[in-house]
Amino acid sequence: MTRVLSCIQPTGEVHLGNYLGALRTWVAGQHKADVFHGIVDLHALTVTEKPGLIGTNTLQLAAMLFAVGLDPDVATVFVQSHIAEHSQLGWIMECTVSFGELSRMTQFKDKSAKREAEFVSAGLFTYPALQAADILLYDANEVPVGDDQRQHIEITRDIAIRFNHRFGETFVIPKAVTPASGARVMDLQSPTSKMSKSGDDDSGVIYMLDEPSKIEKKFKRAVTDSDSEVVFDRERKPGVANLLEILAATTNSTPQKTAESYTRYGDLKSASADAVIAMLAPIQKRYNELLGDKAELMRLIHKGNDRAQVVASATLARAQKSIGFLSSK
Ligand code: TRP
Repeated sequence: MTRVLSCIQPTGEVHLGNYLGALRTWVAGQHKADVFHGIVDLHALTVTEKPGLIGTNTLQLAAMLFAVGLDPDVATVFVQSHIAEHSQLGWIMECTVSFGELSRMTQFKDKSAKREAEFVSAGLFTYPALQAADILLYDANEVPVGDDQRQHIEITRDIAIRFNHRFGETFVIPKAVTPASGARVMDLQSPTSKMSKSGDDDSGVIYMLDEPSKIEKKFKRAVTDSDSEVVFDRERKPGVANLLEILAATTNSTPQKTAESYTRYGDLKSASADAVIAMLAPIQKRYNELLGDKAELMRLIHKGNDRAQVVASATLARAQKSIGFLSSK
């Protein structure tokens, strides 16, 4: 069966764009392939300095992944820092990639430029080597990623090919695949940009844990336009199109069809709010149950970790053997 790996950083609250755009497709995908989902806390460390924050975010993200429907008996959900092999293979990857290659990564250039006066860790620079370790440890055939991550998958392939060439066949060569397309959810206040937690103003962002009254308020204030026709036209009417896209994704319909049922913006907004509130209610309930029962949540995490560990340690041992390190046994 095809092995698919996707990872997510524990860097803040999950929002509706993450869910409808990605997480929901992960849930559907768990029955179609052998899926591994890593919560990559070591990657988050490249930009985190506050003590305790990463652990809390990791626990909350794990609860959310299970709450949205990843089944711990089907999908392998694991925490990157719990599997020491990531760091171990990460170093080997750093020695298999060149300084020049890492220097060409556009994400490093963007992120380090954005951090300006802030601390730019060496980890931010070697980040793709750790990502290569994540992927190669699990013999992943496919890695579904957006455009921003394609370069990191390319460099992973280059590293794997180079390693295999230097030390003999060891790693499966992965390929980047376009993720099963989820909905494209835009910010409710600026509907030409993607819903994202990185903006300063989050009044256009629906968080998975928002209370119903907050969701209603955010939809009520959503930007539309000055005419009043409900049609799906992303170019001309991005605000209305976004509401239609969200409502359609939530009710398993199409934006075009959804548009036919509404004539007034107010009705479209309140229907969207109601549908999102209804969709999120069981997820929020399950999330709160899991966070309220940490022992159970840890049990689910350990289940994934245990499965991940078996694969990761076998792959690391294979790589160490190929290199020819002196065995400690
Ligand atoms: N770099 C990815 C991101 O920022 C996260 C990530 C880390 C990842 N390791 C991975 C994604 C392995 C896919 C496979 O989104």
